Amino acid sequence: MRVLITGGAGFIGGHIADRLVAEGRAVEILDDLSTGKRGNVPPGAVLREIDLRDPAGVARVVADFAPDVVCHQAAQASVAVSVREPALDAEVNIIGTLNLLRVCAANAVKRVVFASTGGAIYGEIPEGGRAAVGALPAPASPYAASKMAAESYLEVFRQQRGLDYTILRYANVYGLRQDPHGEAGVVAVFASRLLSGAPIQINARRDVGDEGCIRDYVHVDDVVAANLAALRGEIAARVVNVGAGVGTSTLELAKILARATAGRSQFTFAPRRPGDLERSVLEPSPEAPCDVSLEDGLHRTVAWFRESHAEIQAPGTRSTPSHR
Ligand SMILES: NC(=O)c1ccc[n+]([C@@H]2O[C@H](COP(=O)([O-])OP(=O)(O)OC[C@H]3O[C@@H](n4cnc5c(N)ncnc54)[C@H](O)[C@@H]3O)[C@@H](O)[C@H]2O)c1
Repeated sequence: MRVLITGGAGFIGGHIADRLVAEGRAVEILDDLSTGKRGNVPPGAVLREIDLRDPAGVARVVADFAPDVVCHQAAQASVAVSVREPALDAEVNIIGTLNLLRVCAANAVKRVVFASTGGAIYGEIPEGGRAAVGALPAPASPYAASKMAAESYLEVFRQQRGLDYTILRYANVYGLRQDPHGEAGVVAVFASRLLSGAPIQINARRDVGDEGCIRDYVHVDDVVAANLAALRGEIAARVVNVGAGVGTSTLELAKILARATAGRSQFTFAPRRPGDLERSVLEPSPEAPCDVSLEDGLHRTVAWFRESHAEIQAPGTRSTPSHR
């Protein structure tokens, strides 16, 4: 199986690349390094530095490598950026995806596995409820709208061009190597700030000072497992939720991380960010079981950030926590 991973220099794509290379697969990565890093690309995978918005570049990569399957992770992945720059979000997430699907259909790619968002596509989930795959999408941000448009194009290309696909709707993904300097990834932001003693900010669910928004947190290892199963053609469903099905407030999360880091950061409270949902929890799909508990996953993540932090404090005195 030859696999092209778009966004393979990013947080999730890099973990998928690791696993595929370890299995001995031929892996190429299409990434413009806008938020990704060379360090996330495992030795053994080829990085092609191309922007999804460049149709000729995307066509060249697919024609040269002739992948059997494409794992499409590249995206403008921040809700906050999508609110500020909806056109940029649409160019990358809609036009970029369209560029990719056109060349996949023209180059006999068997299947596209698409990283969609369970965390944003269903809109607000009322107290006590969980969003099942059959629920009607209700985007409340440009990011959710662009992911929904990309999902629709996948179905159109299947009908018109016979291009098969699996849509994986991720909940809030966390784990080692997530970028704490980005706009997404509250676990990475909090873990890193707790370890350096910087204050951490709880954005409100409704009113400043409340427990913050409710999210369904899923460890990156479970997301990688779902991607591998989908790439191998082991998932028959076209749309799958990848989440733990458990709602956790930002304040609860901060407290678990404070215990795990023994951090003494001050908690500050701020209003809700535009585009953020109050509550988002998924009904997990049986095709994508989540095996890593939040407690265990957070401890593993903190251990990595602790090592990473020690390396920043005393460069060269120990081996880098990055896997390469
Ligand atoms: N992290 C989450 O909680 C989460 C939740 C739901 C869905 N997702 C989706 O999962 C995917 C991966 O997210 P992530 O958290 O690893 O984010 P990330 O920002 O770490 O990875 C995205 C990658 O895409 C690349 N990229 C961005 N624009 C590009 C372009 N125009 N051309 C080529 N490459 C481009 C970036 O350089 C980066 O390497 C995204 O599609 C995101 O929308 C993530």
